[in-house]
Amino acid sequence: MERISTSAPGKLMLFGEHAVVYGYPCIVTAVDQRMRVIVGFNGRGAIGVRAPQVGLDRYHKRIADLGKQEVPKPVQFIEVLVKNFYEQYEVDRGLDILTESDFSVNFGFGSSAAVTTALAFGLSKLYSIQMSKKGLFDLCYKSVLEVQGVGSGFDIAAAIYGETLYFIGGRKEIKPLDSDGLPLIVGYTGVKADTPTLVRQVAELRRRRKAKVNKIFAEIAEIVETARGALTEKNYVLLGRAMDRNQKLLSDLGVSSKELDRLIAAARRAGALGAKLSGAGGGDCMVALRSAQGKLAIGKAIEEAGGEVIDVELGTEGVRLEKRA
Ligand code: MEV
Repeated sequence: MERISTSAPGKLMLFGEHAVVYGYPCIVTAVDQRMRVIVGFNGRGAIGVRAPQVGLDRYHKRIADLGKQEVPKPVQFIEVLVKNFYEQYEVDRGLDILTESDFSVNFGFGSSAAVTTALAFGLSKLYSIQMSKKGLFDLCYKSVLEVQGVGSGFDIAAAIYGETLYFIGGRKEIKPLDSDGLPLIVGYTGVKADTPTLVRQVAELRRRRKAKVNKIFAEIAEIVETARGALTEKNYVLLGRAMDRNQKLLSDLGVSSKELDRLIAAARRAGALGAKLSGAGGGDCMVALRSAQGKLAIGKAIEEAGGEVIDVELGTEGVRLEKRA
Protein backbone atom coordinates (compact mmCIF):
# COMPACT_ATOMS: atom_id res chain seq x y z
CA MET A 1 0.00 0.00 0.00
CA GLU A 2 1.08 3.55 -0.66
CA ARG A 3 3.22 5.28 1.96
CA ILE A 4 3.89 8.99 2.17
CA SER A 5 6.94 10.47 3.84
CA THR A 6 6.93 14.14 4.86
CA SER A 7 9.00 16.39 7.09
CA ALA A 8 8.63 19.74 8.84
CA PRO A 9 11.28 21.91 10.49
CA GLY A 10 11.76 22.71 14.14
CA LYS A 11 11.95 26.38 15.15
CA LEU A 12 13.84 28.86 17.23
CA MET A 13 12.06 31.87 18.65
CA LEU A 14 14.23 34.94 18.12
CA PHE A 15 12.11 37.76 19.62
CA GLY A 16 8.71 38.30 21.20
CA GLU A 17 7.98 35.08 23.12
CA HIS A 18 5.10 35.21 25.60
CA ALA A 19 3.83 38.58 24.31
CA VAL A 20 2.86 36.78 21.07
CA VAL A 21 0.35 34.68 23.03
CA TYR A 22 -1.56 37.95 23.62
CA GLY A 23 -1.67 39.03 19.99
CA TYR A 24 1.66 40.88 19.80
CA PRO A 25 4.26 40.16 17.07
CA CYS A 26 7.25 37.84 17.28
CA ILE A 27 10.15 36.76 15.05
CA VAL A 28 10.73 33.03 14.60
CA THR A 29 13.09 31.07 12.37
CA ALA A 30 12.82 27.51 11.05
CA VAL A 31 15.87 25.32 11.71
CA ASP A 32 17.40 22.50 9.66
CA GLN A 33 16.52 19.91 12.33
CA ARG A 34 13.32 18.27 11.16
CA MET A 35 10.57 15.93 12.33
CA ARG A 36 9.76 13.18 9.84
CA VAL A 37 6.50 11.28 9.42
CA ILE A 38 5.79 8.19 7.33
CA VAL A 39 2.10 7.41 6.94
CA GLY A 40 0.17 4.81 4.96
CA PHE A 41 -3.17 2.98 5.01
CA ASN A 42 -3.21 -0.33 6.92
CA GLY A 43 -6.66 -1.74 6.16
CA ARG A 44 -7.36 -2.40 9.86
CA GLY A 45 -9.76 0.40 10.82
CA ALA A 46 -7.33 1.59 13.51
CA ILE A 47 -4.26 3.79 13.85
CA GLY A 48 -0.97 2.13 14.71
CA VAL A 49 1.68 4.61 15.86
CA ARG A 50 5.41 4.23 16.46
CA ALA A 51 7.37 7.21 17.81
CA PRO A 52 10.76 5.92 18.99
CA GLN A 53 12.09 9.43 19.78
CA VAL A 54 9.57 9.70 22.63
CA GLY A 55 9.87 6.05 23.68
CA LEU A 56 6.59 4.97 22.07
CA ASP A 57 7.03 1.46 20.69
CA ARG A 58 3.56 0.68 19.47
CA TYR A 59 0.16 2.27 20.01
CA HIS A 60 -3.20 1.18 18.63
CA LYS A 61 -6.57 2.90 18.64
CA ARG A 62 -9.70 2.17 16.62
CA ILE A 63 -10.67 5.05 14.33
CA ALA A 64 -14.11 5.12 15.97
CA ASP A 65 -12.44 5.70 19.38
CA LEU A 66 -10.06 8.51 18.41
CA GLY A 67 -10.02 11.23 21.07
CA LYS A 68 -11.89 9.00 23.51
CA GLN A 69 -10.45 7.35 26.63
CA GLU A 70 -7.10 8.34 28.04
CA VAL A 71 -4.49 9.20 25.39
CA PRO A 72 -0.83 8.72 26.42
CA LYS A 73 1.16 11.96 26.28
CA PRO A 74 3.60 11.02 23.47
CA VAL A 75 0.76 10.24 21.07
CA GLN A 76 -1.68 13.06 21.94
CA PHE A 77 -0.79 15.44 19.10
CA ILE A 78 -0.88 12.62 16.56
CA GLU A 79 -4.20 11.18 17.70
CA VAL A 80 -5.96 14.53 17.96
CA LEU A 81 -4.67 15.62 14.55
CA VAL A 82 -5.94 12.41 12.89
CA LYS A 83 -9.31 12.78 14.68
CA ASN A 84 -9.69 16.41 13.51
CA PHE A 85 -8.55 15.64 9.95
CA TYR A 86 -10.99 12.69 9.77
CA GLU A 87 -13.88 14.78 11.12
CA GLN A 88 -13.13 17.66 8.75
CA TYR A 89 -12.90 15.48 5.63
CA GLU A 90 -15.29 12.69 6.68
CA VAL A 91 -12.81 9.86 6.01
CA ASP A 92 -12.18 6.75 8.13
CA ARG A 93 -9.43 4.44 6.86
CA GLY A 94 -6.90 2.87 9.25
CA LEU A 95 -3.34 4.22 9.26
CA ASP A 96 0.19 3.19 10.18
CA ILE A 97 2.18 6.19 11.37
CA LEU A 98 5.90 6.33 12.13
CA THR A 99 7.54 9.51 13.41
CA GLU A 100 11.27 10.21 13.56
CA SER A 101 13.26 13.19 14.72
CA ASP A 102 16.57 14.78 13.71
CA PHE A 103 16.79 16.40 17.14
CA SER A 104 16.17 15.69 20.81
CA VAL A 105 12.59 16.53 21.75
CA ASN A 106 14.10 18.16 24.87
CA PHE A 107 15.64 21.12 22.99
CA GLY A 108 12.37 23.05 22.77
CA PHE A 109 12.60 23.17 18.96
CA GLY A 110 8.85 22.67 18.63
CA SER A 111 8.70 18.93 17.97
CA SER A 112 4.94 18.76 18.71
CA ALA A 113 4.07 21.49 16.19
CA ALA A 114 6.44 20.01 13.61
CA VAL A 115 5.08 16.47 13.94
CA THR A 116 1.47 17.73 13.81
CA THR A 117 2.24 19.72 10.66
CA ALA A 118 4.18 16.94 8.92
CA LEU A 119 1.36 14.47 9.65
CA ALA A 120 -1.42 16.81 8.48
CA PHE A 121 0.50 17.44 5.26
CA GLY A 122 1.14 13.68 4.83
CA LEU A 123 -2.57 12.89 5.28
CA SER A 124 -3.54 15.52 2.71
CA LYS A 125 -1.16 13.83 0.23
CA LEU A 126 -2.34 10.32 1.11
CA TYR A 127 -5.99 11.28 0.56
CA SER A 128 -5.12 13.60 -2.41
CA ILE A 129 -6.89 16.48 -0.67
CA GLN A 130 -5.78 19.96 -1.69
CA MET A 131 -5.07 22.01 1.44
CA SER A 132 -3.92 25.63 1.40
CA LYS A 133 -1.24 26.76 3.85
CA LYS A 134 -3.95 28.62 5.75
CA GLY A 135 -6.13 25.48 5.85
CA LEU A 136 -3.17 23.49 7.11
CA PHE A 137 -2.44 26.13 9.77
CA ASP A 138 -6.05 26.20 10.99
CA LEU A 139 -6.29 22.41 11.32
CA CYS A 140 -2.91 22.09 13.08
CA TYR A 141 -3.51 25.06 15.37
CA LYS A 142 -6.91 23.74 16.41
CA SER A 143 -5.33 20.35 17.20
CA VAL A 144 -2.40 21.79 19.17
CA LEU A 145 -4.76 24.01 21.19
CA GLU A 146 -6.96 20.99 21.90
CA VAL A 147 -3.98 19.14 23.39
CA GLN A 148 -2.11 21.86 25.28
CA GLY A 149 -4.77 24.48 25.82
CA VAL A 150 -2.50 27.47 25.16
CA GLY A 151 -0.15 28.76 22.45
CA SER A 152 0.14 31.39 19.76
CA GLY A 153 0.65 29.05 16.79
CA PHE A 154 4.01 30.66 15.87
CA ASP A 155 5.67 27.22 15.91
CA ILE A 156 3.08 25.85 13.47
CA ALA A 157 3.63 28.85 11.18
CA ALA A 158 7.39 28.11 11.21
CA ALA A 159 6.75 24.42 10.49
CA ILE A 160 4.47 25.23 7.53
CA TYR A 161 6.09 28.29 5.94
CA GLY A 162 9.73 27.74 6.97
CA GLU A 163 12.20 30.66 6.57
CA THR A 164 12.36 33.44 9.16
CA LEU A 165 8.97 34.95 9.88
CA TYR A 166 7.40 38.00 11.41
CA PHE A 167 4.30 36.49 13.00
CA ILE A 168 1.44 38.16 14.83
CA GLY A 169 -0.46 36.04 17.34
CA GLY A 170 -3.77 34.76 16.03
CA ARG A 171 -2.19 34.51 12.57
CA LYS A 172 -3.16 38.09 11.84
CA GLU A 173 0.04 38.47 9.85
CA ILE A 174 2.79 36.16 8.59
CA LYS A 175 5.64 37.81 6.64
CA PRO A 176 8.95 36.26 5.60
CA LEU A 177 12.08 38.17 6.67
CA ASP A 178 15.59 37.97 5.24
CA SER A 179 17.88 36.43 7.87
CA ASP A 180 20.63 35.32 5.49
CA GLY A 181 23.96 34.95 7.23
CA LEU A 182 22.60 35.69 10.72
CA PRO A 183 25.52 34.68 12.98
CA LEU A 184 23.71 32.99 15.83
CA ILE A 185 24.98 30.49 18.38
CA VAL A 186 22.48 28.20 20.10
CA GLY A 187 23.18 26.87 23.59
CA TYR A 188 21.08 24.15 25.26
CA THR A 189 20.80 24.38 29.06
CA GLY A 190 20.22 20.65 29.55
CA VAL A 191 16.91 21.45 31.26
CA LYS A 192 13.62 20.55 29.57
CA ALA A 193 11.02 23.30 29.93
CA ASP A 194 7.26 22.81 29.89
CA THR A 195 5.77 25.53 27.66
CA PRO A 196 2.11 25.35 28.82
CA THR A 197 3.21 25.64 32.48
CA LEU A 198 5.29 28.74 31.73
CA VAL A 199 2.53 30.32 29.62
CA ARG A 200 0.08 29.77 32.50
CA GLN A 201 2.60 31.21 34.97
CA VAL A 202 2.77 34.42 32.90
CA ALA A 203 -1.05 34.46 32.62
CA GLU A 204 -1.25 34.24 36.42
CA LEU A 205 1.23 37.11 36.82
CA ARG A 206 -0.85 39.14 34.34
CA ARG A 207 -3.99 38.42 36.35
CA ARG A 208 -2.34 39.84 39.47
CA ARG A 209 -0.26 42.65 37.86
CA LYS A 210 -2.10 43.47 34.65
CA ALA A 211 -0.76 46.99 34.08
CA LYS A 212 2.83 45.94 34.70
CA VAL A 213 2.65 42.88 32.42
CA ASN A 214 0.84 44.74 29.65
CA LYS A 215 3.58 47.40 29.76
CA ILE A 216 6.21 44.67 29.41
CA PHE A 217 4.34 43.18 26.44
CA ALA A 218 4.10 46.59 24.76
CA GLU A 219 7.86 47.10 25.23
CA ILE A 220 8.55 43.64 23.83
CA ALA A 221 6.42 44.51 20.79
CA GLU A 222 8.54 47.64 20.22
CA ILE A 223 11.71 45.55 20.45
CA VAL A 224 10.32 43.15 17.85
CA GLU A 225 9.80 46.08 15.45
CA THR A 226 13.36 47.34 16.08
CA ALA A 227 14.71 43.82 15.59
CA ARG A 228 12.76 43.39 12.37
CA GLY A 229 14.44 46.47 10.88
CA ALA A 230 17.87 45.58 12.26
CA LEU A 231 17.63 42.03 10.87
CA THR A 232 16.72 43.26 7.40
CA GLU A 233 19.51 45.87 7.42
CA LYS A 234 21.95 43.36 8.96
CA ASN A 235 22.66 45.87 11.71
CA TYR A 236 23.89 43.31 14.22
CA VAL A 237 24.96 45.81 16.87
CA LEU A 238 21.37 47.09 17.07
CA LEU A 239 20.01 43.54 16.86
CA GLY A 240 22.25 42.42 19.74
CA ARG A 241 21.06 45.31 21.88
CA ALA A 242 17.47 44.34 21.10
CA MET A 243 18.22 40.78 22.27
CA ASP A 244 19.60 42.05 25.59
CA ARG A 245 16.58 44.31 26.14
CA ASN A 246 14.19 41.48 25.30
CA GLN A 247 16.02 39.20 27.76
CA LYS A 248 15.71 41.80 30.55
CA LEU A 249 11.93 41.96 30.01
CA LEU A 250 11.63 38.16 29.96
CA SER A 251 13.50 38.10 33.29
CA ASP A 252 11.01 40.67 34.60
CA LEU A 253 8.23 38.24 33.57
CA GLY A 254 9.97 35.61 35.69
CA VAL A 255 10.61 33.08 32.91
CA SER A 256 14.41 33.06 32.80
CA SER A 257 16.27 30.52 34.94
CA LYS A 258 19.66 30.28 36.61
CA GLU A 259 20.92 27.94 33.85
CA LEU A 260 19.76 30.34 31.12
CA ASP A 261 21.21 33.33 32.98
CA ARG A 262 24.53 31.52 33.35
CA LEU A 263 24.85 30.71 29.63
CA ILE A 264 23.68 34.18 28.59
CA ALA A 265 26.19 35.90 30.90
CA ALA A 266 29.00 33.62 29.67
CA ALA A 267 28.19 34.40 26.02
CA ARG A 268 28.12 38.14 26.70
CA ARG A 269 31.45 38.01 28.58
CA ALA A 270 32.97 36.17 25.61
CA GLY A 271 31.99 39.03 23.30
CA ALA A 272 28.45 38.24 22.11
CA LEU A 273 26.67 41.30 20.66
CA GLY A 274 23.54 40.18 22.53
CA ALA A 275 22.02 37.08 24.08
CA LYS A 276 18.64 35.90 25.29
CA LEU A 277 16.57 32.86 26.07
CA SER A 278 14.62 31.39 23.16
CA GLY A 279 11.09 30.08 23.65
CA ALA A 280 9.10 29.68 26.82
CA GLY A 281 12.07 30.00 29.20
CA GLY A 282 12.65 27.93 32.33
CA GLY A 283 15.30 25.93 30.43
CA ASP A 284 15.57 24.73 26.81
CA CYS A 285 17.85 26.94 24.69
CA MET A 286 19.43 30.39 24.65
CA VAL A 287 20.71 32.20 21.57
CA ALA A 288 23.69 34.53 21.26
CA LEU A 289 24.58 36.85 18.41
CA ARG A 290 28.24 36.69 17.61
CA SER A 291 30.62 39.06 15.90
CA ALA A 292 32.50 37.86 12.81
CA GLN A 293 35.31 36.31 14.89
CA GLY A 294 33.37 35.30 18.00
CA LYS A 295 32.20 31.79 17.12
CA LEU A 296 34.86 29.73 18.89
CA ALA A 297 35.19 31.93 21.97
CA ILE A 298 31.43 32.22 22.58
CA GLY A 299 30.82 28.53 21.92
CA LYS A 300 33.60 27.62 24.34
CA ALA A 301 32.24 30.00 26.99
CA ILE A 302 28.74 28.48 26.69
CA GLU A 303 30.15 24.97 27.11
CA GLU A 304 32.32 25.96 30.06
CA ALA A 305 29.19 27.41 31.68
CA GLY A 306 27.51 23.98 31.40
CA GLY A 307 25.66 24.37 28.08
CA GLU A 308 25.70 22.31 24.90
CA VAL A 309 26.25 24.19 21.64
CA ILE A 310 23.83 23.02 18.96
CA ASP A 311 24.80 23.58 15.35
CA VAL A 312 21.77 24.70 13.37
CA GLU A 313 21.11 26.34 10.07
CA LEU A 314 18.41 29.02 10.19
CA GLY A 315 15.64 30.10 7.83
CA THR A 316 15.20 26.64 6.30
CA GLU A 317 12.38 25.17 4.22
CA GLY A 318 8.88 24.56 5.61
CA VAL A 319 6.85 21.35 5.47
CA ARG A 320 7.60 19.20 2.42
CA LEU A 321 6.94 15.89 0.77
CA GLU A 322 10.02 13.66 1.08
CA LYS A 323 8.86 10.52 -0.71
CA ARG A 324 5.86 8.73 -2.11
CA ALA A 325 6.34 4.94 -2.21
C1 MEV B 1 7.19 29.14 23.44
O1 MEV B 1 8.21 28.60 22.61
C2 MEV B 1 6.82 30.53 23.03
C3 MEV B 1 5.62 31.11 23.79
O2 MEV B 1 5.43 32.43 23.29
C4 MEV B 1 4.37 30.29 23.60
C5 MEV B 1 3.69 30.45 22.26
O3 MEV B 1 3.85 31.47 21.61
O4 MEV B 1 2.94 29.53 21.89
C6 MEV B 1 5.96 31.21 25.26
